[in-house]
Amino acid sequence: MAVLTVVPGAEVVEASREAGVRGRSGVFDMMARRRHEQVAFWSEPQSGYRGIIAVHDTTLGPALGGTRFWNYASEEEAIVDALRLSRGMTYKAAITGVDLGGGKSVIVGDNRTPDREAIFRAHGRAVNALGGRYITAEDVGTSVHDMEFVRKETDHVAGLLGRSGDPSPVTAYGVYVGMKACAKERWGDASLADRHVAVQGLGNVGFNLCKYLAQEGARLTVTDIRPGRVSTALAALPGTEAVSPADIYGLDADVFAPCALGAVINDDTLEVLKAQVVAGAANNQLANGRRHGEEVYRRGIVYAPDYVINAGGLINVYGELKGWDVERGKRQAGTIYDTLLRIFRLSRDENVPANAAADRFALERLDEARAARGAGVRGNGA
Ligand SMILES: NC(=O)c1ccc[n+]([C@@H]2O[C@H](COP(=O)([O-])OP(=O)(O)OC[C@H]3O[C@@H](n4cnc5c(N)ncnc54)[C@H](O)[C@@H]3O)[C@@H](O)[C@H]2O)c1
Repeated sequence: MAVLTVVPGAEVVEASREAGVRGRSGVFDMMARRRHEQVAFWSEPQSGYRGIIAVHDTTLGPALGGTRFWNYASEEEAIVDALRLSRGMTYKAAITGVDLGGGKSVIVGDNRTPDREAIFRAHGRAVNALGGRYITAEDVGTSVHDMEFVRKETDHVAGLLGRSGDPSPVTAYGVYVGMKACAKERWGDASLADRHVAVQGLGNVGFNLCKYLAQEGARLTVTDIRPGRVSTALAALPGTEAVSPADIYGLDADVFAPCALGAVINDDTLEVLKAQVVAGAANNQLANGRRHGEEVYRRGIVYAPDYVINAGGLINVYGELKGWDVERGKRQAGTIYDTLLRIFRLSRDENVPANAAADRFALERLDEARAARGAGVRGNGA
């Protein structure tokens, strides 16, 4: 069985394939399909900077979303990634209850480049030119240190050193409480003691999540493509077992926690997946949102929609913008538990997949906000 190689953009390839089925479309068609307000392209030959900033929706506030730095196979993949991710941020902000819109930026290139200052200062100037409609932060391929370069050029950047910093601990906490909500839904008991959890990816979020799970007495099987991360986890968390990256899907586990990259719920993995709960931090876990969301639901798997369960990072950044302390951010992330239970209830009542139920709540909040300000049509700025 060939399991889809997981790289940022794997879900993008799937989306591009879909677009191909419907016929090739230009940027305006792609924007219209997902209802994007703005997509800005930037190029600076001196530094080699090539960036795309997608502002999906600013009804609830300025569009917030991280900067992804990735060597995309094509320009189309980079655009589709920015469009998908920015729309996801709109939905995430809406359902999380924060007053922010959705945006995302991508920098096209090799994210291992040592020449970071020129690239990220160029990106900062691009962000600044949008005048606050878009606020950036770190994402795949970028770090809080890179954001310090961005800050030299703009105030519209969050997740900075000495402020809220690395959002991963709060994200991990949100995933942990979200997983408990899934357990409550699936087994009628929120406890994760003695539950077997398969964790894919032992990075900033995955490792912190493992610590919460170990504390509660869950049985852990972990994997990562970086052997050093696996040995660190095994040493820190006695009783934890490890498997190869390809073997994580077929484990006889209660919960599968994807904490690496997207598109891991796909035709191939669903064939072997035994877990009754899928709850993890990764973005865009469903290779095809509609088709795989329905398939997961049909199989009776309790799936925590990714943008709901991983909203701790967004909450952390929002807290930074609002001047909250870490504890307040963590308390807010705790509300992910109730949000998920609400989603599962709607999913059951209306017989729709959980990801569709989550979308409904997010759209409801957006519609209410539009109606409240008497817009009736999409607004164009914060
Ligand atoms: N950091 C946050 O606050 C945050 C917030 C929301 C969403 N997310 C999402 O959660 C996921 C994890 O974030 P992170 O900050 O921990 O990232 P990270 O880069 O620190 O960790 C990802 C880990 O996954 C491993 N990995 C990559 N491909 C793998 C594979 N095929 N099999 C097994 N392991 C693999 C990497 O080696 C790495 O250790 C990402 O999808 C990210 O977009 C993170």
